[in-house]
Amino acid sequence: MFKVGYFQFHPCFGDLGTNLDIVLKALEPVDADLMVLPELPFTGYTFRDRKELASLAEDPSRSESVDALSRLCRRKGMYVVTGFAEKSGKRIYNSSLLIGPRGLLRTYRKIHLFNEEKRYFDPGDLPLEINTIRGVRVGMMICFDWVFPEVTRTLTLQGMELLCHPSNLVLNYCQKSMQTRCLENGIFAVTTNRFGLEKRPHASLRFTGGSQIVGPKGQVLGRAPAQRRRLQVLEIDPKESRNKSLTPRNHLLRDRRPEFYR
Ligand code: ACM
Repeated sequence: MFKVGYFQFHPCFGDLGTNLDIVLKALEPVDADLMVLPELPFTGYTFRDRKELASLAEDPSRSESVDALSRLCRRKGMYVVTGFAEKSGKRIYNSSLLIGPRGLLRTYRKIHLFNEEKRYFDPGDLPLEINTIRGVRVGMMICFDWVFPEVTRTLTLQGMELLCHPSNLVLNYCQKSMQTRCLENGIFAVTTNRFGLEKRPHASLRFTGGSQIVGPKGQVLGRAPAQRRRLQVLEIDPKESRNKSLTPRNHLLRDRRPEFYR
């Protein structure tokens, strides 16, 4: 069995210290193998322009947030997946980091940028790959990547059992759609969203909350309210995702006909 959870909260735009404090205080008492945080939980989301983003983005190897989460993971023997505004030389990515007791294990850079993100982030340039944590094969994608079923399928074909999905959702389609992503791939998924209104002088966005943990039959195992802070941990059996048969004669992966998918 594997204990996995999410922490849904409302980050304060541009206040890395306060947001890190909120996350550390929330995760300190948690008993879990893996916790998933939202997309961009330390910086906030509604950047004015690339210059403002550049002033807030960090190199993970010199980030107080990454160092503090690594110490937390070491002390508690747990893993965290977190969104992260990642500076790498002149480039800036909307990233997701897998952090464990030994520090940063993997970086994923969002491949499919959403709307205004295209003005200030560089598109992801790393391959989709999975990591094995305590025997569980874990993959990552970020928010709008859900619209492209190829992402989940590519990771599933590598053996992914559990998808970690940090999000800052503003549309209402994702939560329902992730039930289909899980069913069609026979996987678990944790979508961690933020909530609240982010009011900036140039734009305001309301995020939809409703973080959720979904099972391999598309069943919602746990869901947060739309506009409240919520931390939830559930025990799942990741082996359930190894059964890819919908009927005795229908296998989700072996029955694919890639020769027709051109
Ligand atoms: C999104 O990709 N943040 C909607």
